[in-house]
Amino acid sequence: MPTRRRFFTQAFISSLVIGGGLSGCSTDPGSVGNKGRKKADPADLPAVIATWKTEAAVTKAAETLQQTGSALDAVEAGARVEEADPKNMTVGYGGLPDRDGFVTLDACIMDHQGRAGSVTFLQDIKHPVSVARKVMETTPHVILSGDGALQFALENGFERINLLTPEAEAAWKKWLETEQYKPVVNIERHDTIGLLAIDKNGNISGACTTSGMAYKMHGRVGDSPIIGAGLFVDNEVGGAVGTGLGELVLKTLGSFLIVEFMRQGKSPQEACEAAIQRIIDKYPEVRKEEIQVGFVAIDKTGATGAAAILPGFQYTLHQRGKLTTADNLPGVMK
Ligand code: GLY
Repeated sequence: MPTRRRFFTQAFISSLVIGGGLSGCSTDPGSVGNKGRKKADPADLPAVIATWKTEAAVTKAAETLQQTGSALDAVEAGARVEEADPKNMTVGYGGLPDRDGFVTLDACIMDHQGRAGSVTFLQDIKHPVSVARKVMETTPHVILSGDGALQFALENGFERINLLTPEAEAAWKKWLETEQYKPVVNIERHDTIGLLAIDKNGNISGACTTSGMAYKMHGRVGDSPIIGAGLFVDNEVGGAVGTGLGELVLKTLGSFLIVEFMRQGKSPQEACEAAIQRIIDKYPEVRKEEIQVGFVAIDKTGATGAAAILPGFQYTLHQRGKLTTADNLPGVMK
């Protein structure tokens, strides 16, 4: 699991300008990257794909899909695995705190009926993805934030716990010695876990969850809880989920863009590459900084795709009863 996070300077954010871009990449041809439209092969359904090499989360999601038949249950169950893992320092319990020492969580969930729920800037709750699902299923709203999200979670029986582990606190105290906002590519080159699942009838759900950028400003919200940015599902077309520097995903609405590209006829692989290329074209500073964004996507046929700015992106796929992980994918940026 990632133990280092990427940082960026305020100067970097404010200096972002429009510019030109480069060519695309391909991924492991054996598992993702099905080019072009194809007829649905029933054997491709059900399936689960996730950002990261996260066999535990994808296996849990696949088992849940098998047991309940529900893609929504599957993505929630998978996300909860990483949220509960204290060794994972970019999600949930054990996540690295903001610059003031607070672990603040973002998560969202979206289902095949177009329903969506989200929590932002949530503290002291281990499973923000489940709170997001509760928002979706029991309120007239999409997003609850901060104290309101916490109050809602407590009223709905979620336990209040301290999310700051001794390891995360020690890392934060070390960071305080320099307080340097410097882009650092984490080991796996991404942070948020995002999952997409498709059931045997072709119904798609997605979820994503994160503790956000380490040592971020207090109150910062990333792309992960924003429907259309960190996650988007349109059951007529497919779904997409992102990871990496949230500000870039927010400003390009990456997941929505991928789904719309698929609607226009691109394969999931082509759509992921095109969304990454959009970031590179609009924000050429990513060429100079070690900035990573990655996406995975799935369409109605169960075809999948994955792409990232920089090499090193990883994903995990469960399809046709088999778990496949991909390491070190090439980046779109050459
Ligand atoms: N992608 C997670 C974040 O930027 O917060």
